[in-house]
This record gives sequence, C-alpha cells and structure tokens, in this order.
Amino acid sequence: MNFFRLVILSFTVFPCTLFAQHASIDKKVDSLLSLMTLEEKVGQLNQLSSDFAVTGPITKDGDKQDRVRQGKIGSYLNVTGAARTRSLQEIAMQSRLRIPLLFAQDVIHGYRTIFPIPLAEAASWDLSAMEQTARIAAVEAAASGIHWTFAPMVDIARDPRWGRVMEGAGEDSYLGSSIAAARVKGFQGKGIGNIDAVMACAKHFAAYGAAEGGRDYNSVDMSVRKLYEVYLPPFKAAKEAGVASFMNSFNDLNGIPATGSSFLQRKLLKGDWNFNGIVVSDWGSVGEMVNHGFATDLKDAALKAMAAGSDMDMESRAYVAHLADLVKEKKIDILLINDAVKRVLYKKFELGLFEDPYRFSDEKREQAVWNNPAHVQVAREMARKSIVLLKNEKLPALNQAVLPLSSSANKKIALIGPLVKAIGENNGFWSYAWPDDSSRVVSLWQGVINKLGNASSLIYAKGCEITGADTSGFAAARKTAALADILIVSVGELATMSGEAKSRSQLQLPGVQEQLVKEMVATGKPVVVLISAGRPLVFNWIADHVPAIVYTWWLGTQAGNAIADVLFGDYNPSGKLPITFPRSEGQIPIYYNYLSTGRPFKSDTDNTYVTAYKDLPNSPRYVFGHGLSYTTFQYGALQVNTSTISKDQPLQVSITVTNTGNTAGDEVVQLYLQDVVSSIVRPVRELKAFEKISLKPGQSKVVHFTLEPSAFSYYNDSLALIAEPGLFHIYIGGDSQATQKASVTLL
Ligand code: BGC
Repeated sequence: MNFFRLVILSFTVFPCTLFAQHASIDKKVDSLLSLMTLEEKVGQLNQLSSDFAVTGPITKDGDKQDRVRQGKIGSYLNVTGAARTRSLQEIAMQSRLRIPLLFAQDVIHGYRTIFPIPLAEAASWDLSAMEQTARIAAVEAAASGIHWTFAPMVDIARDPRWGRVMEGAGEDSYLGSSIAAARVKGFQGKGIGNIDAVMACAKHFAAYGAAEGGRDYNSVDMSVRKLYEVYLPPFKAAKEAGVASFMNSFNDLNGIPATGSSFLQRKLLKGDWNFNGIVVSDWGSVGEMVNHGFATDLKDAALKAMAAGSDMDMESRAYVAHLADLVKEKKIDILLINDAVKRVLYKKFELGLFEDPYRFSDEKREQAVWNNPAHVQVAREMARKSIVLLKNEKLPALNQAVLPLSSSANKKIALIGPLVKAIGENNGFWSYAWPDDSSRVVSLWQGVINKLGNASSLIYAKGCEITGADTSGFAAARKTAALADILIVSVGELATMSGEAKSRSQLQLPGVQEQLVKEMVATGKPVVVLISAGRPLVFNWIADHVPAIVYTWWLGTQAGNAIADVLFGDYNPSGKLPITFPRSEGQIPIYYNYLSTGRPFKSDTDNTYVTAYKDLPNSPRYVFGHGLSYTTFQYGALQVNTSTISKDQPLQVSITVTNTGNTAGDEVVQLYLQDVVSSIVRPVRELKAFEKISLKPGQSKVVHFTLEPSAFSYYNDSLALIAEPGLFHIYIGGDSQATQKASVTLL
C-alpha cells in the first residue's frame, strides 16, 4: 500500500471506527438503562466520599457499603490505593445489576510523586512538560484504581488573596487555555479506556476565581461579555481537548448559584458547546443552594440542580434522597434523569469497567509505577522549570551577580530560615501526605548537601517559625551568619495557607520572617532570599534591599534538589510569572491586561487626575511574564509580513532573539496584541502567542508566530466573536512590558 493510500485510509477508517465505537457504547448504555429501576438510576448520580482526606463536612450515615450493594452509590471520591478501590468494587459487584463504581480523587499536582503546585508549573510556560506531569500523575493514580481526577482547575484568578490561585494557571486566559488543554491531554493520555488514563475534570464552572474580595465561596457578579472573554476560554479549551467531565462551582454568578444555573450548564455547556460528558456538582454545592436562599430545602435544591444540568451530586445526598420522588410527583421529567445517568454509564463503559471492574486496581502495577525513578526525574525537571528568578543584582564586592553560587569555591554557606529543613511543606496544598514522605521529599537542606557532596561547608539556623512573634532564634541566626560567606534565607507561607478556604487579606510574609531577613541583610553578607508560597506575596522591603530573590512556590517531591540546581547554576532559571505580583493588597485586583481608561495612568510619579492611587504607585512589584535568567537575551526588530491584512488572513510575525550572555539559557518569547480602536473598550494589550526557546551563548534564533484571524477578534456586546477593521499594535519581548513593536491594519 503506498503512503498516499494509507493516509486516505486513516482519514476514512478512523472516524468510522470511532463512530462505531460510540454507537456500540450508546447501545449498551440504552439496554442497561432499560433494566434499571428509578432508584438504581438515581443511585448512579450519587457520589459520596470515603471518610478520609476530605475537603468538606461529611454526614456520617451508617453503612455506605450496604448502599453500594443496593446500587445507591454510583461513584466514590477519596478512596486511596488499589487494595481499597478493589475491595469496594467487589461490593458493587454484589449489586443487582453489577454496575461498577467510579473512583474519583483530587489528583491535582501528582499522586504518589508530587509535582509543583499548578501555579508554579504554569510559571514554566512549558506545555509539554505540564502535559507530562499530568500524564505521570494519571499513570500513578490509575494503577491505584482511580478513574477520574478532579483536575485541571482552569479558573482564571486575578486576586492573590484567593487561596485557590495556587491550583490554577494564573491570570491570563490565553496562557490558561493553553495549559488547560495540555493538562487534559496529559491526564487522559491516549484516551479514556486506556489502562493508564484517568478522566479529567475542568473545574469550577464557572467564574469561581472572581469571588468578590478574594474570599473563597463568595459571590461573583460580572458582565456576560467578560465571562466569555476572560473566564470561559480555558473551559472551552478543555472541552476542545476532549475533557471527560466538568465540575460546577460554589459561587453564584450574577445571582444564580452555578450549580443551579441552566444558563451555564444546559445552554452553554451542554447546548452551545455540545458537551456530552459528566457534569458533577462541587462538594455539597447542591445542598448549599439552600444557604444561598435559592432553594427552600434539600428537595428543592435537588430539583433545581437537576433541572439546571448538574448530572452528579457530590456529597449533598440531595439526589439520592429526593430525585425519585420528584419524578413520581412529575416535578422532574424522567428524560432528564435518563440523560444524566447515560452520561455516567457511558463513561463506565468507555473505561472498560463492565468488562473488568478491577482493571485499574492493580497492586502490582501500583508498586511498579509508584517506584518508577523516571517519575522522580521528571519531578525534578519540572520543579527547576517552575522556579522564577525575580532579582539577581551584581554586588560590587563580588563584581558579579549573587547567583549562581559556585559549588567549588570553598565558601561557607549559611542556610537560614524556617523552611530550610521543611519536608512535607514542600508538597503544598492538595497533595497526599504519604507515610514515607520524610525519606521521599527532598528538603532544601538535603538538596544542597546532595549538590555539594557533603555538609562540611554548610551551617544552619532556623531563626524563627513561619508564624508567630518569637524572635528568640534571631541571635543564633546572627551568630551562624557571622561565620558564613553567603546567606541563603528560606522563608514563606505554610503550605496550608493557600488552597481551598485559604483566603488571606494580608499577603506579607507571615510572622517575623521579614524581620529575620532584615537581620541577615544587616550583617553585610551577600543574601539570597528564597520564597515558598502558593500565591504572590507582598515583600517590598526584601524586593528593595535583598540582591537576589528566587520564588520557589511549592515544588513537590524534588523541591530541594531543584532549588539547589538553580542556586548552583546547574539549571539556568527560565520561569516567568503567570500572575502579577502586587506591591500592596490595595492594588488588588491587579492584572496586566486591564482595559484602557479615559484617564490613563502616566507614570508612578505623575499621577494627577489620572487613574491612580495617591498613596501607592500603579505599577505592580513584578509584572506578568517577568522572570530573569543567568544570561541575557536581546530582541531584534519585530517583523510582520504585511502591514495590512484581510479578515481571513493569518499574519506572520517574526523576531530574532539572541543570547548575549555567557550561559546557555531558555527564554519565553511573548507576543502581545493591542486593538487600538474598537466598538468595545479593549485591554491595553493581551497575550496572543508565546514560545519557549533554548539558546547557547552567542546564539540567535528567529522565532516565527502565525497570528490566526481569531487572534484579532473579541466578543462584542451581542456575544458575537468579531474582528473589527482598524489598527493593531504587536509587541514582543520577555515579559508583559515588551517594547519591540510593529503595527498592522486589519481591512
Ligand atoms: C473543591 C473541589 C474538589 C472537591 C472534592 C471541593 O471542596 O472545591 O475542587 O474537587 O472538594 O474534594
């Protein structure tokens, strides 16, 4: 068979096979459905948690196993390990129709091997690396019998007071959409049904990241246009990447709880987007509609959630208690229930659970994949890529930048601070505390020892705790510092200070940590500050006075090794901020792609009668896209292939980037677009493309971007995606302040 024929065949045969596969599953679903009682149907829509590792209140309600036997539970979350998932599945096999359970889990940034928190990974801007960590997380979880992860969280977050910024990809819709697709692909691998794939879940639908005041679970009020433009794109990208499920959210959106929103779930998701997977409620969010004052009681909540398109009820027990009655009372059409049940059964068939309900719960495979050294290596690589070098000044005394340090310079290094020897903390929120974490997770202390070969040139003082007012450790820290040539100070949040229900109104370093840094700077020794956190913190004194600052977020299992790689120059940092760092909480919400105003801000020193604060500069502390390297990059002139384009014509853009330093390095080349005049006020600029490139010292590369017509379009007032004729400016550079510019007119 010649090549041409092969290509034709693959185009014709494959969709047919796929179609046949869908049709045959549909048939099986229909025939099973026809055998089910109403109660059994409702059981499939009931998801309960096992009684450990939970994120919400649990109703202790007797023997859940018996309910499984009666077919009253369709899915479980929080069941860890192949042995446990298998034994529960055995009970499901005792039910009348032997419908297997779906096991779900929050596998957010790794399962057994813990990768950096999602916000940290986003700082790598490395889509294939993020796909790979999601892949490994899926491989490890699937072997434990997990079929479904509640990830990725794709909520755009522009408010670092909100603790859940750590779970997403930051503030930008374009970057967020690219990452959402990469993560879905990673979790789902070659497709649902493969033994190493788990169903992904795009959450929280929708606009949860815009909770008023950055307070978790709070209301969201925004124009539908803004919803379409800023908050929905990552969900759409997840859908287009084939995501198997969506989770709705706790917040109300413009007065309607998302769980009870037909607009979100029926019109948009299942209608306009034609999504045919499962929509699961968030934990207890069906029942919480009573607290919202949107439903009179649990029964009314069940009615409203089902009518609005929530297929599965996580932990409210509203469906299992009331849906059958609601059908009998003719308040809910059985067709709605059937549709929801079909979505669940379809996935169970697709996963292959009817052929072998235990196929995922495999203790042998679990052990093998859990102990795969390649996973640990990927964790280290991902952690290095996630680190952001915020500042690295040349010190006159050293006649060079503080970083990287030399591992052979025979200098005494003092490691100071409450996070130096921390172990479990490195895993961050939404991870599992495994019993052997103390030997698996690499602390900063251990990482530096591993790098240097021994601890002979290292000294240590804790200085203080992360929280609290106790400064009694400062004296010992000063003494230790006096013996050293260089001080590395490791400070930050507790891992449990960011994550769900972890909103903070003050974003400074907790406790007396900033004071500790001041004490260390007062010694006159060169200081490097490492900041570990799940969100942007506010640390102005440090930013002004410390010559080298490294943002390490929470990096997971390999944190210490990865940080040591960066400190000693075995890895040249390449991370770029996926979220703006404010100078003060008073600037929040703060993001780079704000709308043009009638009185634009001029400069931090000239702020009369323009949009500005009297007591604060407008500029953030660190802009979106910022991140330094141990080398320098120079951007040449920006080239466009034409100065006028028609509506359906892509634009070719290119720029030459040169590594002008002495070290090989990676650079994230970022392209921003400004629509200068339009019928709706547009952002000052928006990210539309990026590429991460590697350059050797002295090497140049021409980076090409193709801007498709969609890049020039936006949602108008009638929610139509349009591109308007007129002038567009294009900027390219290494952060959101990029200055290399070209213009093009859309005809
Ligand atoms: C969170 C979800 C999570 C669920 C299950 C909820 O509290 O909002 O993101 O998936 O709990 O743990």
